[in-house]
Amino acid sequence: MKMLLSAAIVGALLSTSALAASAAKPAAAHSDAIVGDAAAGSAKAAACVACHGPNGVSANPLWPNLAGQGAAYTASQLAAFKSGARKDAVMAGMAAGLSEQDMADLGAHFAKQPARIGSANPDMITEGQAIYRSGDNDNSISACAACHGPAGKGVASAGFPQIAGQHAVYVTAQLKAYRSAERGNAKDPKQLMMQNVAKNLTDAQIDAVSSYIEGLN
Ligand code: HEC
Ligand code: HEC
Repeated sequence: MKMLLSAAIVGALLSTSALAASAAKPAAAHSDAIVGDAAAGSAKAAACVACHGPNGVSANPLWPNLAGQGAAYTASQLAAFKSGARKDAVMAGMAAGLSEQDMADLGAHFAKQPARIGSANPDMITEGQAIYRSGDNDNSISACAACHGPAGKGVASAGFPQIAGQHAVYVTAQLKAYRSAERGNAKDPKQLMMQNVAKNLTDAQIDAVSSYIEGLN
């Protein structure tokens, strides 16, 4: 019954037969040995194109670019949407039918796509760059560069996401969600890192650093 139900949901949500076929298999036991296959991920990503764009660069600034993102981070976020540890109604539905293998494959696929190059609002560069590079000591805000790297490429092996070129509108929304602890599971150690960074950011600082991040490359 459970199988039938989940197969029906998956069938309704996902358009690619590749995804439906792999999701109908019993879930693989958790294993760190799952290796993503970018070619398989490319076929599975057909279900993502409508919002995230043909190569992981989205047209709507509320929908994040996935191109060039670290594979492990992408997979971890898909798992978090599926479990509810990260809250988003749309992505919860998209991730519901994905197996761990699907998540690893999708991560490997998007990691290979060229990252988007964006631009910053020139009026905000000075303030945004200061926060990005040095943080705000008086208000216990850590430098973003310490974890996301001087050029915003992240540290894929540590699960620190690439943020360079990301839409400022999306970045602003995420920083506010961390600040209010509404992105999801307040006990997740990675989310906690960002909650601690974001909790003292003002709206003006968020606007400036988000714009700066969109222009980083
Ligand atoms: C109907 C539109 C839509 C579709 C289709 C969709 N997504 Fe998303 N996706 C979103 C939105 C909106 C968000 C931002 C959620 C939030 O604000 O937390 C998102 C966020 C994500 C994130 C988090 C990115 C980050 O930087 O943290 C990942 C990963 C992701 N989607 C992967 C996928 C994959 C893989 C597929 C296809 C299987 C897919 N999405 C299909 C709309 C969509
Ligand atoms: C101590 C390390 C650390 C510092 C410092 C840090 N970050 Fe992060 N950041 C992370 C980690 C880890 C994540 C992933 C958290 C998760 O899983 O939700 C993240 C996630 C993010 C995201 C969400 C990315 C996405 O695609 O959804 C944004 C935006 C972000 N950080 C911006 C910033 C900004 C702006 C600063 C500086 C004000 C900053 N970070 C400082 C570690 C850090």
